[in-house]
Parts: sequence; structure tokens; C-alpha cells
Amino acid sequence: MQWKIPLSDIDFGLEEQAAVQTVLQSKWLTMGGVTEEFERDFAAYVGAKHAIAVTNATAGLHLACVAAGIGNGDEAILPSLTFVATANAVRYTGATPIFADIVGADDLNVSVHAIEKLITPRTRALLVVHYGGYACDMPSIMELARERGLKVIEDAAHAAGSDLGGVHLGTWGDVGVYSFFSNKNMTTGEGGMLVTNDDAHAQKIRLLRSHGMTSLTWDRHKGHAWSYDVVDLGYNYRIDEIRSALGKVQLAKLPANNERRRHLTQVYRDVLHELALDVTIPFARHAGTSAAHLLPALLPSGTDRPAFMEAMKAQGIQTSIHYPPIHTFTAFREGANVSLPITEEIAAREVTLPLYPMMTDEDVWTVSKAITQALVPA
Ligand SMILES: Cc1ncc(COP(=O)(O)O)c(C=O)c1O
Repeated sequence: MQWKIPLSDIDFGLEEQAAVQTVLQSKWLTMGGVTEEFERDFAAYVGAKHAIAVTNATAGLHLACVAAGIGNGDEAILPSLTFVATANAVRYTGATPIFADIVGADDLNVSVHAIEKLITPRTRALLVVHYGGYACDMPSIMELARERGLKVIEDAAHAAGSDLGGVHLGTWGDVGVYSFFSNKNMTTGEGGMLVTNDDAHAQKIRLLRSHGMTSLTWDRHKGHAWSYDVVDLGYNYRIDEIRSALGKVQLAKLPANNERRRHLTQVYRDVLHELALDVTIPFARHAGTSAAHLLPALLPSGTDRPAFMEAMKAQGIQTSIHYPPIHTFTAFREGANVSLPITEEIAAREVTLPLYPMMTDEDVWTVSKAITQALVPA
């Protein structure tokens, strides 16, 4: 399908091509010096002591759960209004994801009050997701977690380049995890990054990223080691040099691109207001600087959403849904008689509109006028 305006688009140019060429010419493709540079750049950018690159954010969330000590018989509390990866990471450890409701129509993030009611003696951690790059109430979440002795993992998949009170999202909790999947604000195709200020967590994550081995192929290549021990059950969650090279270039572009995303989000708000459309954009009252990863819109109650999305498609505009709530999926329904009234009501009305840095203000008008047509089919 050739979209007039796609949902997202990647800002790739000659810099990315040159960076990849350089890696290819070096003939060192597996995790090595370029990855170390990418990790250093990223840690400095977000203000974290450690940054550890991985093959994708799902693997990163799994490692974060293991580092946080989550395992068989434990519970971790998280929103249902997120990508399934957040919950899968908990299940990989043998623990049970417990789903908490969101705040409301303006704040699609997990509610601290809802979390508090779900804490049991089995709860070990909170996994909070900064929906669309908009900050959760981190001061309250951290206070609750510290009071109750719980670890906090931030699913910052959407949140590279965002902050709350000057503190980068992803660095408030014990471990933060970013995604560099192709639709993200910075991309390496597939890829992810863990950040932490905790030395012990960082050491464990580095170890488990590569089979629990005490030295890497890269170390041996540099002549720093000739053998290794395996001291834990680890995984192969390594990134590679091609993707790290892309990541370095994309990171440098991130601040300007996020600024553009924030501008376009404001244009959407203004235009929808000007056209007096009965569609709301959440996070009107959010705190902090958002990465503006997504442009979620809430349709009026009772709107036929599939018909709306079809009508947008007919006008060449791609839309999406973020998210079908996890607790409604077949693989998560059994045995969990969960009711999340706010999540269910809001998720049913949500449609994600196109947002990417290369969009023009005129494109926002085009999408908004298409909404006018789609809401009132001829
Ligand atoms: C909120 C959230 N968490 C986790 C992930 C998983 O990221 P990845 O695709 O890098 O594994 C995504 C990816 O889309 C996401 O949106």
C-alpha cells in the first residue's frame, strides 16, 4: 500500500550509509569498539552511569527483570495498555504480570493508586511504561517503590530524549530500557539499550547479555584474554557493530527530531481545535519534556473505529492502535479475571495518527481534514 501519509518514517541519510560502510570495511561486525562508543554516547546523553546495548528492547526488559531479581512465584505490576513485550519479559522469568489500570483520558500512563492496591507480599517490581514518550508520575512511583521495597524498571521504549524535572526518563528507576525498533524516534532496525546507575545491576546485565561469559570475543581479539569461564545462565542478546554505528548517527539526530515531533504535536492540537473536531489528544497537561513518539487520539464514544480507520485509509492516511490491552489477549486471559475499566474504555477509542520529523505542518492539516471526512462518512 502506497500511503499519502504513513504512520511513521525514518530519518536516514548519507551519514547512516557512511557509518555502516566504515564498519563493513573494518570487517569487525560483532559487538566491539563501535558498540562501546555507542554505549558511552548514550550514557552521556541520558545522564546514566552505565548503558548496555542489546539486540532489542524485549531482550533488554528480560535482562532488566533478571537483574531486578524477578523470578518464579514473584509478581510484577505493569500497565495493560502497552506492547506485549513488557508483559512477556516478566513471564520469561517465571513471574506473573499483574495489570494495573491507567490514570484516565488525558494521562494514558499507569495509575500509582491502581498500582498501590495491587501490591501483595509476592510483588517484587513495578514495570512502568512512558506511553508515547510522556512521563509517568515518577516521583510518586519511586516513593511508593522505596516504601514497599520494590524495584522499578522503566520501559522507556518510547522515551529516548524525554525528561521529567530535568531527569531523563529511563534513569529514574533501577533500570531503564529503550527500543531502537524501526518505528522508534531513533532506530537501528532492531536494537535496544539498558541504562542503570547501579554497578551491580550493570555488571550482571553485561554478563547475561553474552552467555554469562567472563570475556568476550572482542576482548580476546584485542589480546586481553585467551579463554573464559561461564559463571551464570546467560543469553545471546548482543547487538552488532552495524547497528551500533547506525545508533551513534541516529542519537546525534535525536534532539532536533524530537523537537520537531513536539512542534508537530502542538500543530495537531491547534488544528483539531480550529476545525472543532470531537477528537482529543491525550497528555494536554503532561509534565516534563516528551519524546513525542506517538500521536494518540481519542475518538468520540460510540465511533465505529474500524470504519474510521478504513475511511482514513481510503484517503491515503495510515493509522494504528496503541494498544489492544494485554489482559484481553488469548495468551493472557486464562486464569486472570482482570477488569481494567479505564484501560478498556480508552483503548477502545484510541487511534494513532501519523507523526514523524519529516512531516510538514501542511501534512497535519491533511490528516486533520481527513479526520473530518472519516468521522462523518459521506
Ligand atoms: C512499550 C514497548 N515496550 C517494549 C517494546 C519492545 O521493543 P523491541 O521491539 O525493541 O523489542 C516496544 C516495541 O515496540 C514497545 O513499544
